Amino acid sequence: MATFDLAFEQAVAKSTPASLSDIREKQVVGTPLEKLFGAVDNFEFDPSRLVVSATVVGEQYRTLKANIAHLGRSGGLGSIVFTSSLKGEGKTTVVVNLARELAREPAAKIAVVDCDFKRPGMSDFCSVEPDAGIEDVLSGAASLEECGVYSRRDRFVVFGLRHHGEDTGDLLASASLQRVIGELEAMFDLVLIDTSPVLSTSEPVVLGAKAGAVVLVVRAGVTQRESVLFAQAQLEQAGCRLLGVVINARPSYLPRLWLLRKYEYFPDAYRHKG
Ligand SMILES: Nc1ncnc2c1ncn2[C@@H]1O[C@H](COP(=O)(O)OP(=O)(O)OP(=O)(O)O)[C@@H](O)[C@H]1O
Ligand SMILES: [Mg+2]
Repeated sequence: MATFDLAFEQAVAKSTPASLSDIREKQVVGTPLEKLFGAVDNFEFDPSRLVVSATVVGEQYRTLKANIAHLGRSGGLGSIVFTSSLKGEGKTTVVVNLARELAREPAAKIAVVDCDFKRPGMSDFCSVEPDAGIEDVLSGAASLEECGVYSRRDRFVVFGLRHHGEDTGDLLASASLQRVIGELEAMFDLVLIDTSPVLSTSEPVVLGAKAGAVVLVVRAGVTQRESVLFAQAQLEQAGCRLLGVVINARPSYLPRLWLLRKYEYFPDAYRHKG
């Protein structure tokens, strides 16, 4: 069975994070997540979107985890943006369930960040009401520590949004975005960023170009092939490192969709209900 050792690989890769001062780095490195962030006993997940671990779908999430660990070995992923070509393809569902699976590894420090400024879904899914939103961190009005919520049972941190529908042009200006992604990558082994769809907003492309990699979530049997290919082209033109696609809700009779080159795919599809 594949082992997950992103934590070690990335700790080495990030021993000198550029965006943190030496003092801040000393405060953050080695401090348990529970002490850095506001902690709750557990997230109250929306049960209708939760994947049960001991099912076929749970097994497929473990395959996805192993693939990410494998891809991270060569390059140190740091952060992955999850997007789709259209709305409602399952990004938020995939991000939260994958985070739960990744956080099962005892040493792993995992974060989930809601950067879907148009249709934020993370706070609802996890029942989190942060004092500050990630938009406050990007504007410099709050720190990551004020925004993140850690669950002792689930063992990962959620960064939610408080407001939405705002113009994100200034928030995603390159300096502040680079600073926040740099800080997140320094604090965590892997940061999963939930965003909006590529075909309706520019945010995934902007975020994807700054993050370590991008994954495209595709709703099987619903999204047109042309839409997926167009989204792929947009991401690649912006210089994003496109890791692969997650085929969500794939009925077993549908063929798998291979978009990327041989070494850049997730070899299994995802179905919410086994
Ligand atoms: N594999 C699946 N099987 C069945 N239902 C699913 C599956 N994945 C997601 N859903 C449902 O589809 C809906 C949209 O899912 P989700 O919110 O995760 O998508 P999204 O891409 O984040 O949407 P948005 O673009 O609005 O942010 C939800 O009601 C969710 O419960
Ligand atoms: Mg969503």
